[in-house]
Amino acid sequence: MKFNKLLGIVGAASIILGVIGGCAPKQKKSTNENMDIKKEIVGQVDGKDVYQFTLTNAGGMSAKVLSYGAIVTHLYAPDRDGKMENVVLGFDDPAQYWTEPYINDAPYFGSVVGRYGNRIAQGKFTLNGKEYLLATNNGPNHLHGGLKGFDKVVWDAEPVMTEEGQGVKLTYNSVDGEEGYPGNLTISITYTLTKDNCLKCDYSGTIDQPCPVNVTHHGYFNLTGGAKTNVLGHEMQIMADRYTVVDETLIPTGELRPVAGTPMDFTEPHTIGERIDQVEGGYDHNYVLSDDVTELRPVATVKEPVSGRSLEVLTTEPGVQFYSGNFLLGNLTGSGGVVYNKHWGFCLETQHYPDSPNQPTFPSTILEPGEKYSHTTVYRFGN
Ligand code: GLA
Repeated sequence: MKFNKLLGIVGAASIILGVIGGCAPKQKKSTNENMDIKKEIVGQVDGKDVYQFTLTNAGGMSAKVLSYGAIVTHLYAPDRDGKMENVVLGFDDPAQYWTEPYINDAPYFGSVVGRYGNRIAQGKFTLNGKEYLLATNNGPNHLHGGLKGFDKVVWDAEPVMTEEGQGVKLTYNSVDGEEGYPGNLTISITYTLTKDNCLKCDYSGTIDQPCPVNVTHHGYFNLTGGAKTNVLGHEMQIMADRYTVVDETLIPTGELRPVAGTPMDFTEPHTIGERIDQVEGGYDHNYVLSDDVTELRPVATVKEPVSGRSLEVLTTEPGVQFYSGNFLLGNLTGSGGVVYNKHWGFCLETQHYPDSPNQPTFPSTILEPGEKYSHTTVYRFGN
């Protein structure tokens, strides 16, 4: 169903443009089939309108998603008493995301990063005998797709209603040579807020020349609700027995080292803060989940003891970057006027291993013409 056909009210800048609902076939007994997906215009970037979508489910959860950067700005999840509070870092005012100070601070709150999420050493790689040069925007290295990655562009967006729940499908056409990468890439992410309190991320894409592709959702979670404290008291479990060892610029050396007996070991639950002082700079490491893309399986569980909230992460990806918000330095004031200090949020970025294009022993990230790029990650909230 075309959203445009449903456009109702037109008026001043930030008004609700329209709603979509009742897309569910009659026989479908969707518990939230009578609710609508709200779509608002919230600004303009690069001459394109930016929309914010609000997804809801029957349990009362909601998520707000921007067409700029495919950013999840808000995600409300229940605590043990059913109280809905925001569990992600971000801004109430969407325009904050495209201000210069925010872009320079580079936390990538809630966005989709790409073409290549995480780092590529020295901003270069060689493919089929040809060297490709990328921006070095993180010390000597390339990070999260470059100067204007997928987190800083306006995606096409359409609401989608499925058996699973309300969603929004965002699509971006990245042209050959953009940020130095070869090939015309069409990439999509569909966020679905499911009936069973999951934020499901389905990624898909195609390309017309071989190119490394590694996109991921860069959400920062804080399960206290409203980011009341830092996340050091959150209990983390990651089902990985190895991680990719990195050098001082956070580029993998190629070694996959066992976590056993080290502060990197989260095979049993530990609070994030328990051993963080023993990890130089804090956690910012890729955990090895498998040696290639696989079936969807649980890879991490996080519990916040005060609120009772929990988060389970499932993915088809071979790695997950556990980042403990080490570069949050109190420069940004986010939703609800909260100052985001060090360790105010954590990320679990499901991905291929960093610098794979330069690491022949890592699972390949090269997307070939005719192949379909596809992976799924689920963030499941419990209380
Ligand atoms: C990823 C990286 C970190 C940092 C954050 C964004 O998690 O691994 O080093 O760049 O993104 O600040």
